[in-house]
Amino acid sequence: MLPQKLTMALNDQFNNELQASHSYTAMAAYFSKKGYHGFANFYLIQSREEHQHAMKFYDYLVTMDEKPVLQALGEPKNDYVNAMDVLQSSLAQEKDVTSNIYALVTLADELQEHSTLSFLDWFIEEQMEEEKMFRDIIARMAHIEEGGEYFLKMNDDFAERRLEN
Ligand SMILES: [Fe+2]
Ligand SMILES: [Fe+2]
Repeated sequence: MLPQKLTMALNDQFNNELQASHSYTAMAAYFSKKGYHGFANFYLIQSREEHQHAMKFYDYLVTMDEKPVLQALGEPKNDYVNAMDVLQSSLAQEKDVTSNIYALVTLADELQEHSTLSFLDWFIEEQMEEEKMFRDIIARMAHIEEGGEYFLKMNDDFAERRLEN
């Protein structure tokens, strides 16, 4: 068992990760409709990764003899101005998740819950990588024209992304 306040916060993050997965699926759909199937693939993989993150929280709650509780998902943003808008929204979403993870770490630290601190270490590292990934893609995108040769090359590269694990 865990302190109730921590259980609730971990459960919220379980649901936040599901919401992130939901949101990335909407971004994939935006690119699918445009015919940029590589970008769509990139976002579908991203969505599945977020689902894996959610299940890490699920498993941790179960391990600690707590019950994961599903909350309603919010309607994600379904329309975007362009590819850059999707990428900027992705980075903003990841920054929000980083803040959520930091708040969880602070709470676990206050409560001296060392197993939870150890569990959350993986997520601190993951968020650093996620933010860097989107920053790097945005930096590349800033120099290329949507629909142009380099953009289509990126689309081809993104078609190759597979789920890691
Ligand atoms: Fe995540
Ligand atoms: Fe993420």
